Amino acid sequence: MSSFKPDIFAGKVAFVTGGGSGICYGMTQALLAHGANATILGRREANIRDAAAKLTKDTGKECLGIAGDVRKPESLKAAIEATVKRFGRIDFVICGAAGNFLSPISGLSENAFKTVLEIDTMGTYNTIKATIGEVKKAKGAYIAISATLHYRGSVLQAHVSAAKAGIDALMNVVAVEYGPAGVRANVIAPGPIEGTEGVARLIPKDVIAETTKAIPSQRYGTIEDIGNAGVFLFSPAASYVNGAVLVVDGAQWHNSTTSKSVPYPDMFLEEGDTRSKIASRL
Ligand code: COA
Repeated sequence: MSSFKPDIFAGKVAFVTGGGSGICYGMTQALLAHGANATILGRREANIRDAAAKLTKDTGKECLGIAGDVRKPESLKAAIEATVKRFGRIDFVICGAAGNFLSPISGLSENAFKTVLEIDTMGTYNTIKATIGEVKKAKGAYIAISATLHYRGSVLQAHVSAAKAGIDALMNVVAVEYGPAGVRANVIAPGPIEGTEGVARLIPKDVIAETTKAIPSQRYGTIEDIGNAGVFLFSPAASYVNGAVLVVDGAQWHNSTTSKSVPYPDMFLEEGDTRSKIASRL
C-alpha cells in the first residue's frame, strides 16, 4: 500500500532502462500506480513487450515496451523519440539496466570486466545523454540504480564494484551540473531484494537464512520497498533531495558482524550480562 496520493504523477512520463523485470519493473509499476505513463527499455524484445502490456493492464496507465540496448546510443535515441512522440515529454528517468555474475578477478577476462562497465556505467551515461534535453525541459529527475557492495571490498564483484562506483560518481556530477536547470539526480542503492534476478544470480539458496540474520531489519527487501523509495525520490516531497544516495537495505551494509564472529542478532535481542558473553567467545 502506498503512502502517497494515487495521482501525484498525473501527466508525468517516465523512461526506464531495465524495466522489463525485477526492481525496475516494480519501480515502473509504482510510478504508473501514481498516475504516470512510461516507456520501459530492455534487450529481450518479447520480454519487454509482454512486461509493458502487463503493466498497462494492471495499472490502467499506458506503458510502451521498446527493445533496445543501453550500450548503443542510437537505440536509446530511437526509444526517446518514440516516447516523446507518444507522450509528449519525459519527466523521470530510471537508469537501471545492469549486468552481473559472480567471478573472482582470476576468472574475469578483460572483456567480461568491460562488458559490465559498458552495460552499467556507460549505459547510465548513454541514457543521461539521450534524455537530458527532455528532462531539462520538464525540470525532471533521474534515479540511477546502484548497489552497496563497492562500499567495501566485495569478493567476486570487482566488475560490478567498479561499475557502480562509477555510477555514483557520475550522478553526483549530474546533480551539480543540471541542478541549476531544475533537474535532480539521485541514486538508490538496494540491498538484497527477494524475487529478483540479482538475488537468484548472486546468493546461493542455502545461505539465504544465514544472510537474513545478518541484515539488521531481519528480512530481505521487497521490490515494493524499492518502488516506494522511487516514488518518494520523484515526488515533490523530495524536491530538495539532489545528489543523494538512498540506501534501501535494512542497514545490511553497516553490519560488519557475521553470526560466526558475534552471535548476531541473538546477542542484541537478549537481556543480560554482555561482558561474560563476549568473554566466553574469546
Ligand atoms: N563468469 C566469468 N565471465 C563471464 C561470466 C561468468 N559467469 N558470464 C559472462 N562472462 C564473460 C564472457 O565469457 C565474456 O567474456 P569473454 O569474451 O572474455 O569470454 C564476457 O563476460 C561477455 O559475455 P557475453 O555473454 O558475451 O555478454 P552479453 O552482453 O551477452 O551478456 C552479461 C552480459 C555477461 C552481463 C550477462 O550476464 C547478462 O546479459 N546479464 C543481464 C542480466 C543481469 O545480469 N541481471 C542481473 C542484474 S543484478
